[in-house]
Amino acid sequence: MPSPPPSDQSPAAQDPAGPRGALHLLRHPLAQHKLTTLRRIETDSPTFRRVIGELGLILAIEALRDLPAGTRAIDTPLTAMQAPCLAGPVPCLVAVLRAGLGLTEGARLLLPEAPIGHVGLVRDEHTLQASRYLLRLPPDIATRGALVMDPMLATGGSAIHAITALKEAGTRDIRFACVVAAPEGVARFTAAHPDVPVTAVALDERLDERGYIVPGLGDAGDRCFGTVA
Ligand code: PRP
Ligand code: URA
Repeated sequence: MPSPPPSDQSPAAQDPAGPRGALHLLRHPLAQHKLTTLRRIETDSPTFRRVIGELGLILAIEALRDLPAGTRAIDTPLTAMQAPCLAGPVPCLVAVLRAGLGLTEGARLLLPEAPIGHVGLVRDEHTLQASRYLLRLPPDIATRGALVMDPMLATGGSAIHAITALKEAGTRDIRFACVVAAPEGVARFTAAHPDVPVTAVALDERLDERGYIVPGLGDAGDRCFGTVA
């Protein structure tokens, strides 16, 4: 009798969003390969920025895979047909500053017509609380919906704050995309915003005592822009 497949009990194999959680992991080998480049300590800032952009495009494709679609009548050079198309306008892209800028730079190659909003948040290194220094949203974000992008979902405080700001602006159809998520952050985020699906490239093991994701990739903003905290 064949033995059952080995079960993976590592923390990263469990779904911290729970059985009804909306965490979607992007397992494409190209995305995983690019994440490995980001994780490596040797990767310089220009390369980090470029690869974050490439992942932003892949994440946008995946996070928006269930956009409402319809058909319209068109003419090809050979015949008339009913062809697939989006049912509504493309959603806004929203960058959580600073590091989310790298992701939206890539995503806008896919959605050049998307308006781009910015939520400026910085995490206090001692309390780990996110505080806001900027909010600029497109005027039609409530009707378009939004894809919010930030490479890191650590404690979840920044992502929760950003989505709350969008909901206060009337936005209802919101998705969140990140590169690396921590189990603690996913659990906290899905409890706060159970209606917002999360797409991530990887679910890592844990947070360290400074609130950094392990194994993670370090400080995404500093690595993206070549700064030092
Ligand atoms: C980083 C990251 C997220 C946040 C995640 O930003 O880009 O926005 O931390 O941490 P959290 O889930 O615990 O809130 P940071 O505050 O370092 O600002 P920066 O992008 O300007 O460096
Ligand atoms: N913010 C980062 O940039 N990296 C982490 O690991 C956690 C928060």
